[in-house]
Amino acid sequence: MIDKIYLSDELFNKFAELFYRFSGIKLKDYKKYLVEYRLSKFVGISKPYKTYEEFYDALIKDLSGELRKGFVQVLTTNYTYFFREGVHFDFLREYLKKNYTKMDYIRLWSAGCSTGEEAYSMAITALETIPILKSYDFKILATDISNAVLKFAIEGVYHYSKIKGSLDDKILRNYFVFDRAKKNFIVKDEVKSYVAFRYLNIMDKYPFNKKFDIVFLRNVLIYFDNTEKEYILRKIYDYIKDNGYLILGLSESIVGVRSPFKSIKNSIYVKE
Ligand SMILES: C[S@@+](CC[C@H](N)C(=O)[O-])C[C@H]1O[C@@H](n2cnc3c(N)ncnc32)[C@H](O)[C@@H]1O
Repeated sequence: MIDKIYLSDELFNKFAELFYRFSGIKLKDYKKYLVEYRLSKFVGISKPYKTYEEFYDALIKDLSGELRKGFVQVLTTNYTYFFREGVHFDFLREYLKKNYTKMDYIRLWSAGCSTGEEAYSMAITALETIPILKSYDFKILATDISNAVLKFAIEGVYHYSKIKGSLDDKILRNYFVFDRAKKNFIVKDEVKSYVAFRYLNIMDKYPFNKKFDIVFLRNVLIYFDNTEKEYILRKIYDYIKDNGYLILGLSESIVGVRSPFKSIKNSIYVKE
């Protein structure tokens, strides 16, 4: 009989401390079984580490940082899809329509971009809205703490089963190439050309020299406690243009969080 390998409460707390140090996210106690399950990618019979203790020791001694990245990757949630929470893309469309002739440049940021659907949806919205986009100073920065999702995003290859229902035929025809053999939709280079994917922990120092018109920080803050939420919101505030916007996920709330932004509607906030 094969003994199951368990994660003790004590070790769970140690992993939680490390994860907080690496990502700024606090793991609640009820996440223990989820953590045990997700770390079993590394731990077990015929896995690189035989016990959770062994994995923990390797993690704290990890000099290259590769193991640490893998650890953060498996513990983060990457669920996303094209044009998720469509009201935000309607808002973006209106903003672009109203402002591209008035602004010298437009910058958007998809913070916590996951596998890229959000950033590419932003690029497609701009392509559909700004007729002179090619000659206009328009860029989207898309960042995440997980290198695995960034790699996926840069490739921009999505299986049709992941796209079905979220994109209409005209958008698919105009902005994707279909690989019949593999049933994949591949984002066209034109769309990709507006998006730069980069590694960035939103808790770290930001290396930006231009301010953003709109920051999409959707479905990311939910993993943070109020103190970290406040810290992130204050930092992002400094990198948004006056009268620019911050957009959170529709089901997210920052009630009880001290925020410098003014709430408008649909989880959209303005910097006044
Ligand atoms: C649920 S996805 C949201 C994707 C997309 N914004 C959306 O709403 O569909 C959350 C993403 O936030 C990223 N994330 C979590 N903590 C982060 C941090 N400290 N810095 C940067 N990205 C982080 C995760 O890796 C994950 O890809």
